[in-house]
Amino acid sequence: MSRDLIFQLSLSLHILAAIAAFGPVFIFPVVVNSLRTGAIPQPAALEAIRRVVQYVVIPVGLTMPLTGLAMVWAKQLDLLRTGWLLAAIALYAAAIAYAIVVQLPSVARLARVAIDAGKGGQALHVEPLVQRTKLGGIYLTLSIVAIVLLMVVQPGGKS
Ligand code: HEM
Repeated sequence: MSRDLIFQLSLSLHILAAIAAFGPVFIFPVVVNSLRTGAIPQPAALEAIRRVVQYVVIPVGLTMPLTGLAMVWAKQLDLLRTGWLLAAIALYAAAIAYAIVVQLPSVARLARVAIDAGKGGQALHVEPLVQRTKLGGIYLTLSIVAIVLLMVVQPGGKS
């Protein structure tokens, strides 16, 4: 298989994975906002978001470096001299770590509290957790936008 073909296959997988993993992230605010109108029961909405983050966003998002590095190899890019790529890798590493260590546990806890409250359990004071989860969502969404811009624009020189 030629390097050219490996590049094209990797780029296709890379873009498909970005759509599958990060597309749903842009829908979460719509789902959360619909809670105000009562269109979707809160426990169901939060549990659905938790499952999408746990089983789609994070696992599929974790494949991005594999296809990305396959392209670095196929194009014989000098990683250390490619500023846009180093910046994107740093943003990616921070965002995926935050998603795993902070955001997923926060969403899981909110879903748990909503499910327990629905069963007549104690209503806990979760406002700080709600705020942190919202801010975390904004941070992660902005990271995705910044990474896509870096990948497409490649400031400092097209690879
Ligand atoms: C460690 C992680 C990553 C690495 C090493 C990486 C690497 C690369 C490389 C080498 C290319 C090919 C650039 C070229 O045309 O020469 C590329 C393209 C692309 N990457 Fe990434 N990437 C990573 C993560 C991501 C993430 C997280 C996203 C989405 C949020 C993303 C979105 C894209 C897109 C949309 C393109 C297509 C750009 C175009 O063809 O104009 N990448 N990436």
